[in-house]
Amino acid sequence: MNLSLFHSNLLEWYFSFGRLDLPWRNLPTQSPTPNPKLTHINRAYGVYISEMMLQQTQVSVVLNRYYFPFLQSFPTLESLATASEEKILKHWQGLGYYSRARNLKKSAIICQERYQGKLPNSREKLKTLAGVGDYSSGAIACFGFGEAVSFFDGNITRILARLFANPSPTPSFLQTKAQEILNLTDPFNHNQALLDLGATLCTPKNPNCLLCPLHSFCQGKTSPSLYPTPKKTQLFPLELHLGFFEQNGKISLLKSRDKLYFGLYNPYTLSKDLLSSSKLLGTFSHHYTKYFITARVYLCKMKAPKEVKFFSQEEIAHLPISNLCKKALKYL
Ligand code: ADE
Repeated sequence: MNLSLFHSNLLEWYFSFGRLDLPWRNLPTQSPTPNPKLTHINRAYGVYISEMMLQQTQVSVVLNRYYFPFLQSFPTLESLATASEEKILKHWQGLGYYSRARNLKKSAIICQERYQGKLPNSREKLKTLAGVGDYSSGAIACFGFGEAVSFFDGNITRILARLFANPSPTPSFLQTKAQEILNLTDPFNHNQALLDLGATLCTPKNPNCLLCPLHSFCQGKTSPSLYPTPKKTQLFPLELHLGFFEQNGKISLLKSRDKLYFGLYNPYTLSKDLLSSSKLLGTFSHHYTKYFITARVYLCKMKAPKEVKFFSQEEIAHLPISNLCKKALKYL
């Protein structure tokens, strides 16, 4: 393969059609004209927060609702280390996968203990942080510190599977190929370009191969839907009975201890034997991670279990609550 043509085709496309304005691509020292709202944000830190948010969440959601308010409240790694987990969760409310928010605080503390309060600049050290794996360590090393490293997420996986017509690429295949095509002269724009190509042209369904800057290099372009072979993600049905108790005009909530929503406030989950003495208010469906949830909401008349706490509407507005809880509260 003519690698320099591959690189120039990709970069030329990126500079014309890429998402050049994304704020985490325009942090101080990363861009000659940093985003004016982020001139006080350390580059690696701003990239780290973006990568943690973008794992499992769409760019538009992060951009429109979460990135700027989060950095406004937590402008430094130190501010994260000293913040309460509850305050961090409140800023994460609605993003899902809440372990990511808890890992931010854990990682900020690890940086204080081991790395003089700064994010470490090597991929290996970045992997010692909570919730930072192969992909994120590569992305932070490259986008935050300008290191020439290769990595792959779902979008880059699809591009590599198609480029090399591999229906079921293994992690070691993907790492080898990502490294083979890496642009050592401009790794930052090369990797951002791959992310954009996967998000906008080389999409899972109906990829736009005719507009692709890598068309002439792609071995999978005649049947892109074969690469990679789609994996069926299994959804598990889950039925939940969510109970609210009332006391002096206040409503009961319980700080969750289960892994799925740890640290967030949720309605109390009723066991079957409590259902007959509760009034059913309504039923809704909710999709969260791998669960397809059917939630039934009850107003409970019996004595409240002692672990629940009572809150006014005003207090609830300041608590970190899950989207499941938000939907359930509407039935009251
Ligand atoms: N997803 C993960 N990292 C990203 C980035 N830097 N730009 C766009 N989408 C991303």
